[in-house]
Amino acid sequence: MIEQFSNDVDAGLSHAQKQLPSKYFYDKTGDALFVKIMALPEYYLTRAEMEIFTMQTSAMISALSLNKNKYFELIELGAGDGSKTKKLLKRLSEQGYQYDYLPIDISENALEQLEQSLTNELPEVSVKTQQGDYFDILENLKVSHHPKVVLFLGSNIGNMLDDEASLFLNNLAETLNVGDKLLLGVDLIKSEEEILPAYNDSNGITREFNLNLLTRINRELGGDFDITKFDHYPHYKQQEGIAKSYLKSLLDQQVTINYIGKSYKFKAGELIHTEISRKYDDHLLQHIIKGSGFSVQNKLVDQQTLFADYILSL
Ligand code: AVI
Repeated sequence: MIEQFSNDVDAGLSHAQKQLPSKYFYDKTGDALFVKIMALPEYYLTRAEMEIFTMQTSAMISALSLNKNKYFELIELGAGDGSKTKKLLKRLSEQGYQYDYLPIDISENALEQLEQSLTNELPEVSVKTQQGDYFDILENLKVSHHPKVVLFLGSNIGNMLDDEASLFLNNLAETLNVGDKLLLGVDLIKSEEEILPAYNDSNGITREFNLNLLTRINRELGGDFDITKFDHYPHYKQQEGIAKSYLKSLLDQQVTINYIGKSYKFKAGELIHTEISRKYDDHLLQHIIKGSGFSVQNKLVDQQTLFADYILSL
């Protein structure tokens, strides 16, 4: 783990355009900051998807074309606190569907909390938590041959480059069978005025979230980043449809990372690219699913058309 982190940091900071992978945002502090982000007034994504799960639950169930007499597995990739999914679980149970809920997460802690809250709030739902890497677990689930519905919500796919997203969907399709479904939550392309504040909130939480990556390098790899000498720099242009986050060096400086045994130079104004958040439309969605075998069955959007949950079928 530490080796991988150190290799990725060294490779990223050695590039002409410096970069650090966004997956390293999520240490304990990063997880807590992301929870705060989801509640921010500017971060509309979570609320918009919650509205779809709350107000269109029955339409969602119809669009999934499930058979009440046939058991299925409802698998969620990166379940988090499951707050949106609970709306769906509740309605499925009320309507007499037969299923198990299988949330997959890398964090044992997140799964324990989710299981506990489900036991309290929805004791009628059968939950089988699966801790580990998505694809290792899907590979194990392949043997079951029960119909499957996979949830991948929150525009998490948007943190992948388009080629990575295509590969991800291809790999996912290979672990599923004909007729299985994917409910894919994506943020929609909109104007700069609407999107940029979501990545540059007035409370500075997203700034803290981005800078925490440097604090993590300091703590885990013995770095000497002075985080007061870097700033959060978000960028979005509607034409491109990708929100990008950078860390900007505020002056000429040099940083040493002991674990790697190297120093890295930064010029005043130089950027480290830390994250992409791809926004989609129907055309881009078709582009990333091309060749995977998935086709669009349906699309549910919130009242303000900010966010979409696509129902894809194999
Ligand atoms: C997890 N992911 C979908 C978030 C996003 O919107 O790209 C992460 C995030 N980064 C900054 N704010 C939120």
